[in-house]
Amino acid sequence: MQMKQLFTMQLHLQLQLCLLLIGYVVAQPHIIFILADDLGFNDVGFRGSAQIPTPNIDALAYSGLILNRYYVNPICTPSRSALMTGKYPIHTGMQHTVLYAAEPRGLPLDLKILPQYLNDLGYTSHIAGKWHLGHWQRVYTPLYRGFSSHVGYWSGHHDYNDHTAVEHGYWGLDMRNGTEVAYDLHGQYSTDVITQHSLNVISKHNATKGPLFLYVAHAAVHSGNPYNPLPVKDDAVRRLDTIQHYKRRKYAALVTAMDESVGKIVEQLRKSRMLETSIIVFSTDNGGPAEGFNSNFASNYPLRGVKNTLWEGGVRGAALLWSPQLTKRPRTAEQTMHIVDWLPTLVEAAGGEAALAKLGTAKLDGISLWQALLKNETSPRKSVLHNIDDIWGSAALSVGDWKLVKGTNYNGSWDGWYGPAGMRNPHDYDWQSVAKSATGQAMQQLKMLPKTADMIRLREAANVICKDANPKDAPHIACNPLSEPCLFNVREDPCEQRNQAKQHPKVLELLLKELQLLNATAVPPANKPDDPRADPRLWNHTWTNFGDYIETNDCI
Ligand SMILES: *[C@@H]1O[C@H](CO)[C@@H](O)[C@H](O)[C@H]1NC(C)=O
Ligand SMILES: *[C@@H]1O[C@H](CO)[C@@H](O)[C@H](O)[C@H]1NC(C)=O
Ligand SMILES: *[C@@H]1O[C@H](CO)[C@@H](O)[C@H](O)[C@H]1NC(C)=O
Ligand SMILES: *[C@@H]1O[C@H](CO)[C@@H](O)[C@H](O)[C@H]1NC(C)=O
Ligand SMILES: *[C@@H]1O[C@H](CO)[C@@H](O)[C@H](O)[C@H]1NC(C)=O
Ligand SMILES: *[C@@H]1O[C@H](CO)[C@@H](O)[C@H](O)[C@H]1NC(C)=O
Repeated sequence: MQMKQLFTMQLHLQLQLCLLLIGYVVAQPHIIFILADDLGFNDVGFRGSAQIPTPNIDALAYSGLILNRYYVNPICTPSRSALMTGKYPIHTGMQHTVLYAAEPRGLPLDLKILPQYLNDLGYTSHIAGKWHLGHWQRVYTPLYRGFSSHVGYWSGHHDYNDHTAVEHGYWGLDMRNGTEVAYDLHGQYSTDVITQHSLNVISKHNATKGPLFLYVAHAAVHSGNPYNPLPVKDDAVRRLDTIQHYKRRKYAALVTAMDESVGKIVEQLRKSRMLETSIIVFSTDNGGPAEGFNSNFASNYPLRGVKNTLWEGGVRGAALLWSPQLTKRPRTAEQTMHIVDWLPTLVEAAGGEAALAKLGTAKLDGISLWQALLKNETSPRKSVLHNIDDIWGSAALSVGDWKLVKGTNYNGSWDGWYGPAGMRNPHDYDWQSVAKSATGQAMQQLKMLPKTADMIRLREAANVICKDANPKDAPHIACNPLSEPCLFNVREDPCEQRNQAKQHPKVLELLLKELQLLNATAVPPANKPDDPRADPRLWNHTWTNFGDYIETNDCI
């Protein structure tokens, strides 16, 4: 062979190797975002309670990052709007309560949302499950906002078997395949339907055509309709007979079904050879409804409050981030993060600095934590606005370790500590079940599942320890946010037992000022009264895009 030929061949090989390496380095990750609905802080094993077995979710947590300083908004629509837009709900008009199914409103159409940003970077986006950001006109629904497919529902909740939603005296079917009413899915358990669509999307995804963004927005573990608030499968309940409280046991069965779904999704990613190049997020949308709140039985214990309160139990969320790309894993990540941060964080993970820089013009409240989480560096987020709701007269803000709580919802009647502590001893926890679960097996194949001793250490690090032993009866420095703002140091006092407002008036003043500055930037809440034209009786007993069928000059 000629010298020259040899040389060019070598060059060619080198070039190929280079391209291969570049290909590897810049490969865009698949993004699987699993959002639980109303999951309590204390209802996953990795957060310290062994009452409800969640081995699949836990295996992901122990192989990646347990997000230990992670905040969400206190209720569905605000939280989901923050996730999708990267903006605080006070900046999109979504700050007050949920979007009711008969309201003629939706997440404003001029807002670009997460799947649209990712699609610009070459992704194909799909959603399985709950939307809850508007459907009164078709243009507000997922297929018009960046998602290529949607099997799921548009409103805030539905029955897991008949898929109807009862709300404000209305009753109608709420299950869709794309824009079509999915009459044929009647009787199929929602968690299974959502899982099955997720598996279909993954198995049909052609990765050579670009990466996947899959948003799995579970119905679980939100309560269903009043006639059957906790729709569970009998066999799932039977396996949980160590839980004495029957309704708590049924709630637990909602959780375990969701845990199995996580296992199936991870397993399908592995089969489709997509797992190694995936980022998986598992997060709740808000704190758990406990002790009958919303007819449900979550636990945020020992955190204070419930869903739709601004106490830590309403806003400090159970969440994890998993990806083989993360360094210094596994660990409990101490970086302060808010749900609003996922948009820039995932955009940076998907498109690097250039993509992140482009976001600059969008005036987001979210900050990318990608580098901080990837490399365990200091979080760029210094403060978190939990919400401002002037209709209910409540607001809360954290700056550093300090948290201000001003006003409260429900006239103070959900300001205590709720839900069982669960079993917190490491001996009560079935460590073998983690390794045996579908996720655990996949993690072992990737050599990412740590030794039991390390999992024990992680779980201990994620355990919330109160300043005073038992918040339900321990002495604490009283706080009545209805009469005066309260101040807590949530790092030292995560259970919000000691109001420091009197001891630290300067800190209080600083936070009140900061709150005022943020409040000055708020837009009015966009809530609207129910529109009688939404009544499902007018639409073959379905919830539909009633606004598409009425004269435009006739509407609001
Ligand atoms: C949804 O519709 C698509 C296309 O019409 C079909 O292939 C798919 O099987 C349907 N999915 C469900 C869950 O019914
Ligand atoms: C995936 O996409 C590539 C590129 O467009 C194409 O060549 C290939 O046939 C596709 N694979 C399948 C299984 O559809
Ligand atoms: C992450 O960073 C924190 C703060 O610097 C440090 O204490 C911790 O040990 C680091 N964790 C790992 C796994 O490197
Ligand atoms: C709010 O709570 C206070 C004190 O518990 C009570 O006196 C008052 O009647 C309550 N107001 C409403 C509207 O329920
Ligand atoms: C925010 O500003 C509005 C309008 O100026 C005011 O009515 C409201 O009380 C303020 N809210 C808070 C929490 O300061
Ligand atoms: C009305 O709903 C029933 C199921 O409740 C369904 O079988 C029927 O096809 C629907 N009719 C129309 C016109 O969509």
